Order: sequence, then structure tokens, then C-alpha cells
Amino acid sequence: PIPVIMDVDTGVDDALALLFAVRHPAIDLRAVSCVAGNTDVDGVVRNTLTVLELAGAPEMPVARGAERPLIEPARSAQHVHGLDGMGDLGLPAPTRTPVELDAVSLLRREILASPRKVTLIPTAPFTNVALLLRTFPEVTANIERIVFMGGAVEIGNATPVAEFNVWHDPEAAAILLSAGVPLTMYGLDVFRQVLVPEDDIARLRASTDPVLRMTGDLLAHRDPDASGDPSPTGCLGDAGAVCAVADPGGLTTRLLPVEVSLAAGPTRGQTIVDRRPRPGEAEIHGLGREQPVVDVALEVDVERYVKLYLETVEGQGV
Ligand code: BDR
Ligand code: CA
Repeated sequence: PIPVIMDVDTGVDDALALLFAVRHPAIDLRAVSCVAGNTDVDGVVRNTLTVLELAGAPEMPVARGAERPLIEPARSAQHVHGLDGMGDLGLPAPTRTPVELDAVSLLRREILASPRKVTLIPTAPFTNVALLLRTFPEVTANIERIVFMGGAVEIGNATPVAEFNVWHDPEAAAILLSAGVPLTMYGLDVFRQVLVPEDDIARLRASTDPVLRMTGDLLAHRDPDASGDPSPTGCLGDAGAVCAVADPGGLTTRLLPVEVSLAAGPTRGQTIVDRRPRPGEAEIHGLGREQPVVDVALEVDVERYVKLYLETVEGQGV
């Protein structure tokens, strides 16, 4: 299996992502680091431990990370993910506890200790990842790639042009983009598309297995959008980024230069993806480009990822 570390702000859809990672046989989830985002970092730690415990995940280190972005104050998304950051489902408090180490130290330890290069999957604001890259740049030698949920080629959610994870800490996103390791951007364009049909959600919610009932309840959660309208149910959200690691063939990607707007004002946190036609794709691997080149997800095979997700969490194998 692929050694994987997740960095999360659990979060309704981060919970769906953790459930999938724990249950997919090709993924060896080694550790989880927590960061402020959907809710405050202590809430994220609690939600993450609860989900791992209810899912029957093997014991693994979970660490508390950044309380706030590098520069901005923390701005939670409780209006989207509920007061507890998890859709207010009334899940029990965990009996598991976080490790004593802070998130950056845990990430460093687990990445350097891994006999195989690690795939990092951040599905949250990139504060922990940026602090890691700046504090211990040697970790990049043992990172296979970073598959991150964040950014948007087209339309944002936190603002008309900015996606939440990038918008919450744009400077951290800029540091991530210059990490110097292969990057895959699973942005809002594909994130929004992968929707589990209503009858599958109803089947999960009627299950006798409490983990499947929780999965169904999480999928039934509707995020209000920026204008207050409820989103469609069934969005796999962050879990799609983990599907992209388990089954990369379900995505159509293209290597493109990506830049984050750090300007104050209405573009702050926008990911500017350069899709201008160019003579040959090979050219963009050349030295001397100013913007980092990222493998950007442009299309997703929705049915394939829905099937993969449901078969994995429902335990029918893949
Ligand atoms: C991202 O922000 C959070 O609300 C979700 O968990 C996801 O990671 C979507 O913009
Ligand atoms: Ca998230």
C-alpha cells in the first residue's frame, strides 16, 4: 500500500475522506495532522479522533497543529459545517487522545521515518504544511507527491474566485505551491461534481452498521453556499482527493502553472491557473518559469469515484 499522511480540518467531508482512507486497501494511513479551518483546531482534533475511533482505524498518531493562519486571524466555517464542525450529528467524544508532539514535528518524524516515500494529502488550509516545508525542508526528499484539495480553476466558494482552503491562508498556499515536489491540485471544479445519489445515501442511513449510518448522515449534510442556499447532498468533497490517490485514472489532469493571489482585495486567495495555449506541453517543464507547475485536475469520472467510494466504505472490496 501507499504510505499516506493526511492533514485535515475535520469537517464533514474531511470525515468522509478519513473513512475512505482507513478502509481502502491500497492506502496505508500512517498519521493525521490537524489544522484550524472548518472549525477551531481543538474541535478538529476531537472530530478527527472520533471519526478514526468510530471507523475502527488502527491506532495512529494524530497531532494538533496551527491554531490560525500564518498572517490572517482564524475564520471558521461553522456556518457551513455546523457548530461542532461536523454537521452537528451529535457524535460521541473520542476516547483516543492526540500525541504530545505538535503537528509539524509529527509530520517531520513520520515522513523521515518512512521506508517508502510518503504521499501527503492536505484537505485543509495549508498552514501546517507551509510551516513544515519552511522549518524542515529536508522532508521533501522523502515526499512522493502532495495531492491537495484546494483552489479552483473557475469559480470559488469562500469568495467568487477563491476556494476556502487557499483563501483561509493564502501565504501558506503559496509556500505549498513552491514545495519543489510533484503536486496534484484537486480543486473545486472536480470537488463539486462527485455527488453520491440519493438512494445510495438512503441505503447507508438505513444500515445496521453505525459507521455506514454515520457515512450516510455525513453525505446527507448540505453545505449552505455563500448566498445561503443549500448545496446538493452527497458531495464526496475532500474524499475525492483521496480517491485520486487510490485511483489516479479517474482524473484527467494537465500540468499547468498555478499562482495564488496574495493581494489584498477581491482576488485574495484566488488560484490563477494559466491555461493559455502553448506550443508544447514539454516546454512548461523547462527551467526559468516563475510559477510552479502543478498537475491540475480538470475532469473527473464521477461514476467511477462514487462506485469506488461506496464499495470501499461498504467493504465489498475494490
Ligand atoms: C474545502 O473547505 C472545507 O470547507 C472543506 O472541508 C474542503 O476542504 C472546500 O473549499
Ligand atoms: Ca477540509
